[in-house]
Amino acid sequence: MIPVTVRYAELKDVPSITEIYNDYVVYTTSTFDVTPKSVEDRTAWYYEHPRDSRYKLLVAEQHAVGVIGFTATSPFRPKEAYRSSVETTVYVARNMRSRGIGAQLYQRLFDELGEEDLHRAYACISLPNPASLALHEKFDFTPVGIFHEAGKKFGRYVSIQWLEKQF
Ligand SMILES: CC(C)(COP(=O)(O)OP(=O)(O)OC[C@H]1O[C@@H](n2cnc3c(N)ncnc32)[C@H](O)[C@@H]1OP(=O)(O)O)[C@@H](O)C(=O)NCCC(=O)NCCS
Repeated sequence: MIPVTVRYAELKDVPSITEIYNDYVVYTTSTFDVTPKSVEDRTAWYYEHPRDSRYKLLVAEQHAVGVIGFTATSPFRPKEAYRSSVETTVYVARNMRSRGIGAQLYQRLFDELGEEDLHRAYACISLPNPASLALHEKFDFTPVGIFHEAGKKFGRYVSIQWLEKQF
C-alpha cells in the first residue's frame, strides 16, 4: 500500500484530475464518456462540488509526485426528492492502481459524508471491473442489478452494474 494524502480538491488540481480521467475516456470502457473533457469543462464540474456541500471532490496526493487519484459525489438524479442520495465516482491514475489508493480515497470520502444527512449512495460500474467491484464491496455497497449492454464503446456493447450503500 502506498500512503497518500487525501484532501479536498483545489482549483489547481483540475488539470491533473482532467488528465487522470481522460486517460480512461480514451483507452477504456470504465467511463462511457467517449470524448476527452477539457480543463474548462472540468473546472465547471469542480465548482459544482463546493467543500461545504454533500457533493464532495477529494484528491489523493503523493509526496513529490502530485495528484494521482480523485473521488467525488454528485447528485444521483436532478429532481429534488433525490437529495437524500448521491452517486459516487473514483479514479486512480492507471499506473498507480491496486496499491490501496482507491481505498484511501473512499475511506476519507465516507468519513466526510458521515456529517451529511444522506440515506443512500449509488455507484455505477461498467463490466467487467473486478477492482471497482472489490472496492465498492469493501465499503459496504451491495449489488442492485445489471443493465445489460446499456452502452456501446469501441464498437462493442458494455453492461453496467449498479450498487447501493446505506448510510
Ligand atoms: C477502481 C479503482 C478506483 C480501485 O482503486 P485501486 O487503488 O486500484 O484499488 P485498491 O488498491 O484501493 O483496492 C481496493 C480493493 O480492490 C481490490 N483490487 C484492487 N485491484 C484489483 C484487481 N485488479 N482485481 C481484483 N481486485 C482488485 C483490492 O484487493 C481491494 O480489496 P480488499 O481490500 O478487499 O483486498 C481503480 O482501480 C481505478 O481507478 N480503476 C479504473 C477507473 C474505474 O474503474 N473507476 C471506477 C468507476 S465505477
